[in-house]
Amino acid sequence: MNILQVSAEVAPYAKVGGLADMTGALPRAWSADGHHVVPVLPLYGTIDRERFGITPTSIVLSVACSTWTEYATVYTGTLPDSDVTVYFIRSADYFDRPGIYGYHDGFDDNDRRFMFLCRAAFELAKAIEFRPDVIHTHDYHTAPMMAMLTVEYRHTPHFSRTAGVFTIHNMAYQGMYEPGRAMDLGGFPAQDFYPGSWYEHHGMFNAMKTGIMFAQKVTTVSPTYAEEIRWTPEGMGLQGALQARSADLIGVLNGIDTNVWSPATDAHLAVPYTADDLAKKEVNKRALLMECGLDLGEASAPLPLMGMVTRLTEQKGLQLLPDVLPSFFERNLVRMVVLGSGQSDLEEALATIARRYPQHLFLATGYDESLSHRIQAASDYYLMPSLFEPCGLTQLFAMAYGTIPIVRSVGGLADTVEEYDPVSMRGTGFRFGPFTADALSTAIERALHVYRREPHWTTLRQQAMARDYSIERTARHYVDVFSWAAPPQS
Ligand code: ADP
Ligand code: GLC
Repeated sequence: MNILQVSAEVAPYAKVGGLADMTGALPRAWSADGHHVVPVLPLYGTIDRERFGITPTSIVLSVACSTWTEYATVYTGTLPDSDVTVYFIRSADYFDRPGIYGYHDGFDDNDRRFMFLCRAAFELAKAIEFRPDVIHTHDYHTAPMMAMLTVEYRHTPHFSRTAGVFTIHNMAYQGMYEPGRAMDLGGFPAQDFYPGSWYEHHGMFNAMKTGIMFAQKVTTVSPTYAEEIRWTPEGMGLQGALQARSADLIGVLNGIDTNVWSPATDAHLAVPYTADDLAKKEVNKRALLMECGLDLGEASAPLPLMGMVTRLTEQKGLQLLPDVLPSFFERNLVRMVVLGSGQSDLEEALATIARRYPQHLFLATGYDESLSHRIQAASDYYLMPSLFEPCGLTQLFAMAYGTIPIVRSVGGLADTVEEYDPVSMRGTGFRFGPFTADALSTAIERALHVYRREPHWTTLRQQAMARDYSIERTARHYVDVFSWAAPPQS
């Protein structure tokens, strides 16, 4: 199958969160299965061209924007650990800036930047003579391609047999633009914007809704989130649009790339390990505790270590922590390492706890890929008390590393973490329901109860490590969806 994948982030080139992990891992898996995939993303100023061997091509794209034409040049590179050629759209005006989206509320011209990316991606496919069976786009940034395909490009020979599949990673970000400008830049007929139209939500152009309404199939990143966004406020106001597309809305559970996330081969770790030699996980724990200057505890009874690697946003439930952690630290029950970047108020709240309990909590701020691997390997528990969570990847990394997740039962967390039952000895982690400090504290207490208590502790960790959340499975599920969207041509 020919797959054109267009997104604002692709790991390892440009990453803010899990979206990049998925758009980096899927092409590798599809290509290994014999599909022809063309991943496209902007050439942001922050992308390290030398490190990734990204070089210019002679292709120049003419991109129609409103009544004028703009130009983009094209760069290529090879996706690490694959033979997939990645295409980078270069426009100095739009993408040569620090950051991907811009701080806080984003750059003022994100509507124009991403509309340009969308239109440039169609032109690129033509320029390289790639006829996609499916165009797969992700989140609001590239959602408008679903409408561009329907109202414009499918009427041209190059895309006459192309289907559009749109994947929602997070309903919280929808791309609400000024309507006149967005319709114009997208090349959409002005008269098609009216109250209740496929582009409109509360008087604004809504890129997310546009993607949902125009795509042949809509997917989101877990089955539970697919339900939540239709029937609960997690739909963030677009429940109606999602219900309208119910018959074409499917949850495709995320997966992880075991080339990148496997404790047996992870070059970031002090010592690699497998489910059969979990003692080596202890070596990683001691190394990280020392690195972070945390109390090692007594050798005979080392304290459990809890980890978190996260964007600092309300989504991740960090606001519960000030009412939960001090009690565990006062009782000297646990150590904790948090790596986070994002909202300064949440960072300050965590920093305040870290200053009060320097022996117990280490807070690292900023983005640090290597440290994120070491935290996963060193920790005994991984905390993810999300307010909402479309899927979540870090709890999957944790399980692969024998690190026991403590999660709120929402979205993909409910689909991937099974509560450990000490009687049947089944399960992979600990869950709680209400978004309250009490419910989270109780789950942590339950989790700590099995720490080093055999046979539970080893069984639980080995079970978590044995779960198959591989990207290969996810990639094949997407191919099924693509086939439903674009039936094989006779
Ligand atoms: P989300 O996409 O909502 O942030 P996911 O769990 O799907 O949540 O993916 C988050 C990804 O970003 C993971 O790969 C995680 O390791 C990574 N990550 C988040 N914050 C940081 C950070 N501060 N430093 C390094 N990696 C981070
Ligand atoms: C979003 C979601 C996260 C999901 C990721 C990748 O950022 O917040 O839950 O895992 O996308 O799909």
